[in-house]
Amino acid sequence: MITTGGDAPGMNAAIRGVVRLASAKKIRVFGFKHGWEGLITNSHTTLTARSVSGLLQQGGTILHTSRCPQFEKKNGMMRAAKTLKLNHVEGLIVVGGNGSIRAAQDFSSYTDAHLICVPASIDNDVFGTEETIGFDTAVNTAIEEIDKIRDTAVSLDRIFMIEVMGRERGFIALDVGLTVGAEIILLPEVKYRKHDIFHTINENRAKGKRSGLIVAAEGIGDTRALAGEIQRHTRSEVRLSVLGYAQRGGNPTFRSRLLASLFANETVELLSKKEGNRVVGLQKDRLVSIPLSESSSKEKPLDPHLLRLAKLLAI
Ligand code: F6P
Repeated sequence: MITTGGDAPGMNAAIRGVVRLASAKKIRVFGFKHGWEGLITNSHTTLTARSVSGLLQQGGTILHTSRCPQFEKKNGMMRAAKTLKLNHVEGLIVVGGNGSIRAAQDFSSYTDAHLICVPASIDNDVFGTEETIGFDTAVNTAIEEIDKIRDTAVSLDRIFMIEVMGRERGFIALDVGLTVGAEIILLPEVKYRKHDIFHTINENRAKGKRSGLIVAAEGIGDTRALAGEIQRHTRSEVRLSVLGYAQRGGNPTFRSRLLASLFANETVELLSKKEGNRVVGLQKDRLVSIPLSESSSKEKPLDPHLLRLAKLLAI
């Protein structure tokens, strides 16, 4: 088992779930350290039902993780495959986001081990599952912070631009924006016109709305420059607040823990049936798994209805 890419709250709960459910089926689990790197260097530890005690509520990952450029090269993948063979590993569980899933797909042509991917990323950007482990925790962290920022916005009649995580995708910004009642939501997937932002803010002011929130995904570009431009083109005081890495940490919420435990169960079931090259997921409240080749090659769509709803609600 490895955890790869950005850490996400609930990764530890997934480790605990896999180890305990596997041990009930007499399957041994090794944890390789620092993601793909641990496979290249053969750095691993044996995980037991007892060694994963107390993990359910902890953010981060006890196995550590990394972004591993070495693994993008043929030589890295060959060394990783060799490590699996050397340790007689029959199945590899990859807990990570869509970058990790794409890497697992590439790796599948180098190894005979059954690969199962467990979607865990605060970005919620994995095709084949409505939710990834950690997303719920991250959005709740963001909401809690933004509710506090609104107090200042209202008290001082200010506009706040709040940058949330999401370098490539806007799932966090969309769900958070909708649920904090943001007047404007900016996503990497949706082109925006600055003129429309100025217009909305001026129009809101004319309606008597003297403060406001703009929730922007980090992937839209330079939010500091944009906040400055908005201030210059409206009669409002505009401040930027970047929420940053706090969104990635902390104790997992109920949903993140539950999803981690359910995904762990599906993973162990698949492996005990010797099925591989699949990505587990949640669709319409049901646990499913889809082929790794499909998940790694498709882009998860954003729900345009949510964006329209957010606009309607923020009048
Ligand atoms: O985990 C996903 C993510 O949070 C992105 O939204 C963000 O841009 C990225 O990780 C940054 O992470 P790092 O600094 O670890 O590359």
